[in-house]
Formats: sequence, structure tokens, C-alpha cells
Amino acid sequence: MELITTTSAASRRSTACVIVGVYADGTLSAGAENIDGAAQGAISRLYKQGDVSGRPGSSLLLTEVTGIRAKRVLVVGLGKASAFGVTSFRRAVSTAANAVKGSKISDVASYLTLEPVTNSDAYYMARYSVEAIGSVLYRFEATKSGRKASPHALRKVCIAANSRGDAKKALLGAEHGQAIAAGVSLAKDLGNLPPNICTPAYLARTAQKIDRQNKGVKTKVLGEAEIKKLGMHSFLSVTSGTTLPAKLIVMQYKGAGRDNPIVLVGKGITFDAGGISLKPGAGMDEMKYDMCGAASVIATMSVVASLKLPINLTVVVPACENMPSGTATRPGDIITSMSGKTIEVLNTDAEGRLVLCDALTYSRRFKPEVIIDVATLTGACVIALGHHRTAVMSTNDELTGEITAAGIAADDRAWPLPVGDEYETQLKSNFADLANIGGREGGAVTAATFLSKFTTGLNWAHLDIAGTAWKSGGAKGGTGRPVPMLTELILRRSRAIP
Ligand code: BES
Ligand code: MN
Ligand code: ZN
Repeated sequence: MELITTTSAASRRSTACVIVGVYADGTLSAGAENIDGAAQGAISRLYKQGDVSGRPGSSLLLTEVTGIRAKRVLVVGLGKASAFGVTSFRRAVSTAANAVKGSKISDVASYLTLEPVTNSDAYYMARYSVEAIGSVLYRFEATKSGRKASPHALRKVCIAANSRGDAKKALLGAEHGQAIAAGVSLAKDLGNLPPNICTPAYLARTAQKIDRQNKGVKTKVLGEAEIKKLGMHSFLSVTSGTTLPAKLIVMQYKGAGRDNPIVLVGKGITFDAGGISLKPGAGMDEMKYDMCGAASVIATMSVVASLKLPINLTVVVPACENMPSGTATRPGDIITSMSGKTIEVLNTDAEGRLVLCDALTYSRRFKPEVIIDVATLTGACVIALGHHRTAVMSTNDELTGEITAAGIAADDRAWPLPVGDEYETQLKSNFADLANIGGREGGAVTAATFLSKFTTGLNWAHLDIAGTAWKSGGAKGGTGRPVPMLTELILRRSRAIP
């Protein structure tokens, strides 16, 4: 998709479709106002007639509007002007993209970006626009038989700006938006793929493909023999019930010479049956999404490498299945983690922390500037925060603040939960250094507290994406979260945002 910007008036833009808006009280957006003037009140007349509405989610496609250069005008409802923020802006762009989707329209010019949006600017509005279009156009058809729907026709998106300066920012925002949209689509694809296809080896091949497609990325995939040599017996205890080989995937991108890297660690359980502590049957298929942490960090790597950001990024993914079998780990088994700490496995379904603790210990060798693990870690997190916000837990309040701020800017939000010594008593074992579960109370926090025992001295945060990584029900599917948030954090640290 080609991305361009324009500072010319909506009525003077030659395009297949110019996108403008109307607010709830009938006030026309700047672009609509301009077209209305050139076309003898065409839009305001339709508003008075009731054909055009300012209701969010509504749209009307006009053809053969005289006095303008565009072939069509798409008028979308913007809702209340006083409440026109990031959420309603994105909704308006999505409405427009939905109206264009499935049509033959191959290029659009959006003038919605001329509107004032609370807490936003030309860069972010262009970026959100391209991200929202990418989201609407996303399809997952890899595992359907028969003829695939023809690819969408949209080839060119033009973003309107109020000044030359804004146009420059908008172009950068649109380019970043396109890279983020590609990363989100990749993370969705990996999540949506069935667990018999998206195996640990498949995740490893995906990482190697990104490596081949981008300069500056080096990828290493360790097999079980090497994982054993490293002493990662906690990780290995999770894979012991499956016949699929576990992989430790390590990707390193160097865009800033010898600086210490940002390290992202992603939980890569390609299917979580619970192991011997078997999960109930209902909805168990959704545990194919238990590798969404891995998907998000691998996808973030592809975004960062494709944008050639001046920063160093390392991604570490412990990937395996959690299955029951005669060789599976038993409740009561005690294992020795890479750190040397012993762990009593009281519930084999609390496996995420077992793979992550070893991956975090392994990551120390990279001397991380900051290390963030991303995991569909606990059902308790979903109970605490629902499906809107990712939980962020860190012993460093400043890092928590940095992550929540990035989430707000990227419109991919997080909310803090605590980690602290008080919770450590819940992880006491009579037989080992630590138990792998801490009871029902504060389950998301005790999981994070377990991880904190392996991150002393590191600038570490943990993201629990159990509620945000995918949607259930009729719209079942991966969300690609938290790729936008992670990318925002890295863009900010690379000083790549104007
Ligand atoms: N992958 C699950 C967490 C999960 C469950 C995410 C449901 C999203 C929806 C994780 O491995 C798990 O099973 N956690 C247990 C931990 C418990 C045994 C302490 C849980 O949350 O029930
Ligand atoms: Mn589990
Ligand atoms: Zn799990």
C-alpha cells in the first residue's frame, strides 16, 4: 500500500474516494465543509434530509458530486465534537475502511486527520489511521479450503494535513502505522493458527524468516540438547509430556552498535492442556493462544527491524507444549531451574512461569538495559482487569509509568498491579526453594512475584496479556496486542517520534 500526504483542499484532490465527516450536531468536518462549499451544499442538504448522520458508525457514499475532483465522497459520522478523542477518531476511520472494504475503490484520501483530536497530533492520527485500516482489512483464511477471497483493492492511502510540517509528521506516522499494522497481523496470524501447525518449530521458522527478510537480525534456535546443557530444567519440565521438540528462540537486532539491548521475553506455549493438572474441556481450544506473548515479541522484532530503528533489541522465546502423558511432570515433582533455585511443581498448569523463569535467567547474558516479559500467564489477570487492559507489574515504578504511557499513546493500554514481598509467603514450599503456585488469591500478582525471584538486579517488567491477546465467542481471534504498545515504547526509546 502506497502512503502519501497532501495539504491541498478536499475539493481539489483527485482520488477515487475522499473521506470526510459530520459531527453529531450537524457540524461539518473541515474536509466536508470544503466539499460542501465547492458542491453547492451537497453534504449539508443530505444532513438536513436525514441521509447523512453524525452518529458514530454511520457512513454514506456519495457519487457524482459536482464541483470537486474526487470520484466519490464518503461521509462518516464522528459523534459529539466535544468527545472526539482517539477512540472516536479510530472508530470513524474503521467505519470508513469498512465502507470501502469489498468495493473496487483502490485509493482513498482521508481528511479526517484535519480534525482536532484530544491528546493527539498529525503523527499519531496518521499512524492510527493506517493501523485501523490494516485492522479492518485483516483476514485469516490460511486454514479454510476452497477459493480464497480476492485480496482487497486498496492500493493507495493519502492522509490530509493542515501544514507542510504536519504533512511531514503524518508521513512518518503513516509509515510507522504500516509497520505496526504488519506486526499486528503477524501476531494475529501466529495466534490464530491451530496448534498442530503453529508448533515450537513453526515459531522458530517464523523467526528465521524474519531474520532472512531484515538486515541486522541474527537468530539462533536452540534444541533440547542445548537447552539441557544450559541447565534449563524448569523449562524442560514443561515440555516433558509432549512429543514435539521444545525450542529456545533467540533473535538479536543491532541498530545501535554496542548499547545494551532492550530484551523482550515471550511465553511460547503453543498449546496449554494443563499437563497432568489437566484443564477442563470447555474452551480448551483457546489455549492455542498461549503463545501470544511469543507472537507479540517476534512481531515487535519484525516491526523494529523493518523500520531499521537505531536501537538494540533482543527477543527470547521459550517455546514448547504443555501436555499430559506418561512422561509428563507430576504435581509434587521438584526441579532445579537454570538459576539454581529449586521449584516444587504443585500444579503443572502453572507452566508459563516455569518456562519464563529460565528464559529470564538466560537473558542476563545480554546485560539488558530493560527486560520485559510478555505472557498469557494467568486466568486471574482476566478476572482482575477484564479484556481491555494488559496488566503491567514491575518492581520499578518508573518503568511501570513508561509502559502505561506508551500504552496510552499507542491506544493499547495497560494498568498496573503490584509485585511485592508481602506476596512471597504464598509461594512458600516445605520441600523446595519455591512453589509454582500461590493459591487463588491475587493469582496474577503471585505469578509475577514468582518471576521477580529470578529478576533481582534487572530493570524488569512483566506484562500479563491473558485478557487482551485474543477475543473469544463469535469474533474469536487474535488481537495482535501488545505489539502497538511495545513498538511505541521502543520508538520512544529510539527517539523516532517527532
Ligand atoms: N495459560 C494459562 C493462563 C490463562 C488461562 C490465560 C485462561 C488465559 C485464559 C496458564 O498457563 C494457566 O493455566 N494458569 C493457571 C495458573 C494456576 C494453576 C495457578 C490459571 O490461571 O488458572
Ligand atoms: Mn497453564
Ligand atoms: Zn499457559
